[in-house]
Amino acid sequence: MNSRAPQAHPAPQDAPHELRYTRGAMALHWIMAALIVVVGVLGLLHDSWPRRSQAFWIDLHALIGLGVWALIVVRLGWRLGHPPPALPPEIGVLPRKLSYALHLLLYLLVFVTPLIGIVTFIWHGRAFDFGLFKVDFGVRSNRAIFHPTEDIHGYLAYTLFGLIGIHLLAALWHQFVRRDRLLQRMWPAAAPGRGGRP
Ligand code: HEM
Ligand code: HEM
Repeated sequence: MNSRAPQAHPAPQDAPHELRYTRGAMALHWIMAALIVVVGVLGLLHDSWPRRSQAFWIDLHALIGLGVWALIVVRLGWRLGHPPPALPPEIGVLPRKLSYALHLLLYLLVFVTPLIGIVTFIWHGRAFDFGLFKVDFGVRSNRAIFHPTEDIHGYLAYTLFGLIGIHLLAALWHQFVRRDRLLQRMWPAAAPGRGGRP
């Protein structure tokens, strides 16, 4: 006979594997999040670099941004065939809908923002410098294109930062106010011996 008292809702890290994201999803999520922080900070600093090194930093921003875009394409492709783990039953209908809408918006912005950045970059007459080789589309700088797209790219990026802030606050609220350990669904390091994935 099992002497343990039954748990109403097992904490996600003690819960069956279905309640946690897969390792692949976690890896993509955290690598993408770290790169977005780096690319975002580089973006915000564009005007602060000395003139002679500005092109280098904008190129670095663009290359990491391309990496983010490649990752989101992989993530979205993967996500279509791998639905996320079911949310715990105590999460109400409205929070479910809000979290779904927020995740959708995050995906959309991470997909679209770099695309507008690419247009801005190329129509500014810039070339992607990968170190070993360059990719130059030979497009002449065209202010009529890069000026509005630069603004749009910036607005999209600021909206993304705002939504990431809400996403982060929601995760912290679940972790420290509701204490329902929702963060564990996306947290790779489960303590050994506590039911975490091997
Ligand atoms: C910085 C950029 C970030 C982006 C773009 C991002 C985006 C996303 C997206 C799109 C999902 C939904 C995954 C899916 O169902 O396919 C997700 C889930 C999640 N994220 Fe983030 N995230 C970021 C940062 C963070 C941070 C800083 C935290 C917490 C400290 C966090 C915690 C979580 C958690 C706990 C989930 C799972 C939510 C659930 O259980 O349904 N994320 N994130
Ligand atoms: C999720 C990925 C990205 C984020 C979060 C991001 C963020 C930003 C931010 C915050 C700015 C400054 C906007 C302003 O203050 O007005 C910026 C500018 C810019 N970004 Fe991005 N960016 C991303 C991806 C890319 C990509 C992939 C490219 C190009 C391939 C790119 C090219 C540019 C360019 C050319 C500028 C204007 C630089 C200038 O002042 O000339 N960005 N970006």
